[in-house]
Amino acid sequence: MSSTPANDRFLRALRREPVDRTPVWLMRQAGRYLPEYRATRAKAGSFLAMAKNPDIACEVTLQPLRRFDLDAAILFSDILTIPDAMGLGLHFVEGEGPKFRDPVRDAAAIAKLGVPDMETELRYVMDAVRTIRRELDDKVPLIGFSGSPWTLACYMVEGGGSKDFARIKALALNDPKALHALLSVNTDAVIAYLSAQRAAGAQALQVFDTWGGVLSPAMYREFSLPYLTRIARELERGEGDARTPLILFGKGNATHLEVLADSGTDGVGVDWLVELGEAARRTQGKVALQGNLDPATLYGSPDAIRAQARNALDNYRDGNGGSREGHVFNLGHGMSPDMNPDHVAVLVDEVHAYSAR
Ligand code: CP3
Repeated sequence: MSSTPANDRFLRALRREPVDRTPVWLMRQAGRYLPEYRATRAKAGSFLAMAKNPDIACEVTLQPLRRFDLDAAILFSDILTIPDAMGLGLHFVEGEGPKFRDPVRDAAAIAKLGVPDMETELRYVMDAVRTIRRELDDKVPLIGFSGSPWTLACYMVEGGGSKDFARIKALALNDPKALHALLSVNTDAVIAYLSAQRAAGAQALQVFDTWGGVLSPAMYREFSLPYLTRIARELERGEGDARTPLILFGKGNATHLEVLADSGTDGVGVDWLVELGEAARRTQGKVALQGNLDPATLYGSPDAIRAQARNALDNYRDGNGGSREGHVFNLGHGMSPDMNPDHVAVLVDEVHAYSAR
């Protein structure tokens, strides 16, 4: 299971080793912007039916790799599988996104939560990882992932997406002990979940702290950072070439780059509100960096997309002492359903062509 993929640029970049081209993958590279995804989804019936069927999850994981010269695959699943397995009752309401039947809003509800069993309650995820690894046949590495403890808590307390995070912020202010209990059980679950994905064959792991950036710096240091750090320190992931690298992606994490670089993670994912060169200078070569084009760049013309890609590559190199090492190219957040697949090809090919010079 730990064999080196034929294309190991992504893993090499995460180890800050020299690469022939800068590796690139895109958050949400599998999804509704692809007509073949929409066709598979129409047959399966719903997103959850797709994610819970390992053969379909495998099929949609591979769809973007058939079209584009991507350097990594990412497991087709969702961050909300953990709270679903904890019994909160995940479902999707058309046009409204994810919802929980039983949100957790107080200390009593939080005290009832436990870490789900990975090979029973979350077996469908591990089966998807095993199926994808077999079908990928070591062409490119497979990324497993999880939500961050804080980001999962946002959905668990709000009961779905939120604009103002009123309920979870009120809980942070009024009963911080209860919120810490929730974050603590989430952290145990995330560590078990990522370990199980690694055992099933995931070759890199990413934590999505999508909502860390809605916290004030002081609240981020209290409610998100310590739990990300615990994951980076406690998650067993091997040594040297056999190491399964961890990437901590955070939307709006620019204020915290220095502490994230000292967290014990292998890579840090950043959004487009910070320049890669500045991020490279501030993290001092302690971690690899992943990012960071504004996803809206894909609404631009092919020429505009190429120019933005070159700027990002040069910006990183200039801040990294003239070297392209340690950079994984990505967007600063996920793709949207109305994006043009042809523009993705333009971006991926330009990253490879320009960084090879
Ligand atoms: O990157 C990939 O291609 C892998 C698959 C992936 C999905 N969700 C598939 C998905 C990943 C990595 C996620 C993570 C995820 N899920 C996050 C963190 C990343 C981020 O974008 O910040 C979050 C916050 C979620 C929660 C979630 N799941 C939301 C808000 C939604 C609704 C989105 C929407 O556009 O309706 C989902 C559903 C979901 N997860 C879809 C996909 C492809 C849309 C499914 C569909 O309707 O077909």
